Amino acid sequence: MSVAKPLRIGIAGLGTVGGGVLKLLASHGELLTQRTGRTLQVTAVSARDASRDRGVDLSSVRWYQDAAALAVDPEIDVFVELIGGSDGIAKRAVEAAIAAGKHVVTANKALLAHHGAALAGAAESAGLTLAFEAAVAGGIPAIKGLREGLAGNNIREVHGILNGTCNYILTEMRTTGRDFADVLADAQRLGYAEADPSFDIDGVDAAHKLAVLTAVAFGTQVDFKSVHVEGIRHISALDINYAQELGYRIRLLGIARRTEAGIEQRVHPCMVPTNSPIGATDGVFNAVVADGDFVDKVVLVGRGAGAGPTASAVVADLVDIARGRVTPTFGVPAEKLAPLVPSPISRRQGRYYVRLMVVDRPGVIADIAATLRDQHVSMEAFLQRGRSPGEAVPVVWTTHETDEAAMQSALAAIGALDAVLEPPRMIRIEDF
Ligand SMILES: NC(=O)c1ccc[n+]([C@@H]2O[C@H](COP(=O)([O-])OP(=O)(O)OC[C@H]3O[C@@H](n4cnc5c(N)ncnc54)[C@H](OP(=O)(O)O)[C@@H]3O)[C@@H](O)[C@H]2O)c1
Repeated sequence: MSVAKPLRIGIAGLGTVGGGVLKLLASHGELLTQRTGRTLQVTAVSARDASRDRGVDLSSVRWYQDAAALAVDPEIDVFVELIGGSDGIAKRAVEAAIAAGKHVVTANKALLAHHGAALAGAAESAGLTLAFEAAVAGGIPAIKGLREGLAGNNIREVHGILNGTCNYILTEMRTTGRDFADVLADAQRLGYAEADPSFDIDGVDAAHKLAVLTAVAFGTQVDFKSVHVEGIRHISALDINYAQELGYRIRLLGIARRTEAGIEQRVHPCMVPTNSPIGATDGVFNAVVADGDFVDKVVLVGRGAGAGPTASAVVADLVDIARGRVTPTFGVPAEKLAPLVPSPISRRQGRYYVRLMVVDRPGVIADIAATLRDQHVSMEAFLQRGRSPGEAVPVVWTTHETDEAAMQSALAAIGALDAVLEPPRMIRIEDF
């Protein structure tokens, strides 16, 4: 009986994800051989610190100080990039691997968001696979789900919770009543947030993932620049309480939607119904909802980060390569990906939540109502608790469906009123 050749794997980056992949391959070797008919064998690795214990015996594995040199090792078939960063060594090493005829697996959403189209083109024209299941929503098979499972559909929309750190912070704020800065500090102490949390809390990480999901969902070139991005720094405990009272949860969502104007891509805090799948996804969990014209809505929920879930996704890509399963990187051959025509957020149609801090005095509400009327924005619900003449009080309302441009004009005019003490806080409502 002929025995299939082992799949020889080189891994650059042995941190959270790389360490998880080493452990998974070590513990599930037999199962993976059963499934693929081949041995998945780590033959070379690279990281910064050669002396660090990675929890797995690497004594018989070649060590490279330079990841780009590992990428062209003649004794590897697949280069696994688990270093991170949109440029620098990760990009150089991936390009070198493709030029040397190696398949590539990466968890690097920043790299794909900025260079996905070019890298896919290079890999496909060389007959190679560029796989990235771990780059979006960690352990959730969102890429395979969309690209393979829903390949028969025109996708109308894909949206989801794409950043577990933000979802953890928003969940903690709700369940403990604490404010943003306090919960963020705790998340950093517990290792759920980076020392520099800006990529997470300013929405950039979710935007990287959304740009990649959009390409897969709509067969368009990855276009990170056209993603509208807002983070969660301005969400207050007060807004979380009002959301709860109105029957909503606040989530940082990535939304990609086909509109008449093109493809809308946006990342920002949203209010979603408490009893929706997204509303029910708490803590570090991620959720991805795809809406296809024949299948309707499909919801995937699971862990979006961490050693185990991301290793699970990286190894799924390795299994595809071991089996010789070939799929265009973004579901459509790279040279056929259409340029993305952006539909700007100013064209969004939807409902809004607004909170103001105003001086409690006669006539203020009438001024606000007049401004909304002038912009043709119609109020749906209005909340003002208690009276405190002459003092600052919160005033909250939700709107009927209106367009973003009108809403922004109304907010600018309302923010300029004397009695309004802070910039208005607006959160878009998504009823899905
Ligand atoms: N963490 C997650 O849950 C998660 C989830 C999804 C996707 N990702 C993505 O996966 C990638 C890796 O993330 P991570 O969390 O595993 O990062 P990490 O824990 O910081 O690990 C990074 C690894 O890269 C190595 N490294 C850094 N610079 C290098 C260089 N110049 N040459 C060779 N190796 C180098 C580090 O070496 P030393 O160990 O020697 O310092 C470390 O092993 C990123 O693209 C990230 O966005 C992560």
